[in-house]
Amino acid sequence: MKTTGNTILITGGGSGIGRGLAEAFHQLGNTVIIAGRREFVLRDTTAANPGMHYITFDTSNAHSITTAAADLKTRFPQLNVIINNAGMQRVFDFSANEAPDDAAIQEEINTNISGVLRMTTAFLPQLKLQPSATIVNLSSGLAFVPIARYPVYCATKAFVHSFTMSLRLQLQNTSVSVVELAPPWVKTDLDATHTTPTAHEGMSPMPLNDFIAAAMQELSSNEVELKVAGAKYLYAGGISDRLYATFEQINH
Ligand SMILES: NC(=O)c1ccc[n+]([C@@H]2O[C@H](COP(=O)([O-])OP(=O)(O)OC[C@H]3O[C@@H](n4cnc5c(N)ncnc54)[C@H](OP(=O)(O)O)[C@@H]3O)[C@@H](O)[C@H]2O)c1
Repeated sequence: MKTTGNTILITGGGSGIGRGLAEAFHQLGNTVIIAGRREFVLRDTTAANPGMHYITFDTSNAHSITTAAADLKTRFPQLNVIINNAGMQRVFDFSANEAPDDAAIQEEINTNISGVLRMTTAFLPQLKLQPSATIVNLSSGLAFVPIARYPVYCATKAFVHSFTMSLRLQLQNTSVSVVELAPPWVKTDLDATHTTPTAHEGMSPMPLNDFIAAAMQELSSNEVELKVAGAKYLYAGGISDRLYATFEQINH
């Protein structure tokens, strides 16, 4: 994708990978708007990056997204990139005597699946008006091979991968291109409450700065399915190229 001259909305842009991407795009001179639920986090990030904008909204809530889309359409009519980065990860044990908490499962699905769907529905009309626009969806290497500790999370990321493929094909004759960015394990707050140094045997998280440098390099290419570092390994282990030949076959 073009990495300059854009107006970019990044959900979850106040921390972790979202903040890293927001700062990298901001440094390249793009107009960057970050979004999230915690206003103080967004305020801290914009204060550290003069000229960056923020808006508070909750991507797990349909009304919150449509209100934000209407607001941003007025304030930033030139908005041409959305990065669906907001996400959450929980541990569930279906073998335990106590059933996994349904509300917690639904919250994860609402954020990681419904959030991406509703962001797409809400912002596509504005993106289609632009001469060149991009939707970037954050999946994960775990979309291709799950870690069973995170059974719902991994399935939501498989959803993001699948939905992104379909959306890309449906929008192929529009001005909107659709990019998937699949990170490896990166050191952020995503798993801060539930990981341990030995949570994933033989693996260690990629430092955030290294990931952002690699991700920006991938994003500046013309490729649309971007797998960074360990995500390439999981992809190769989980999916063969035959999937894509079959996908072509059943879509034509
Ligand atoms: N870190 C990894 O190892 C890794 C690997 C593969 C993929 N990813 C994906 O990368 C993305 C970013 O993850 P991260 O590691 O940067 O996680 P993080 O450090 O926990 O940051 C997540 C961000 O999303 C925001 N967010 C969460 N729920 C939200 C909601 N309902 N509405 C609006 N904002 C919401 C949070 O802000 P508020 O709490 O203030 O709303 C926070 O800024 C996620 O989609 C994650 O699945 C991460």
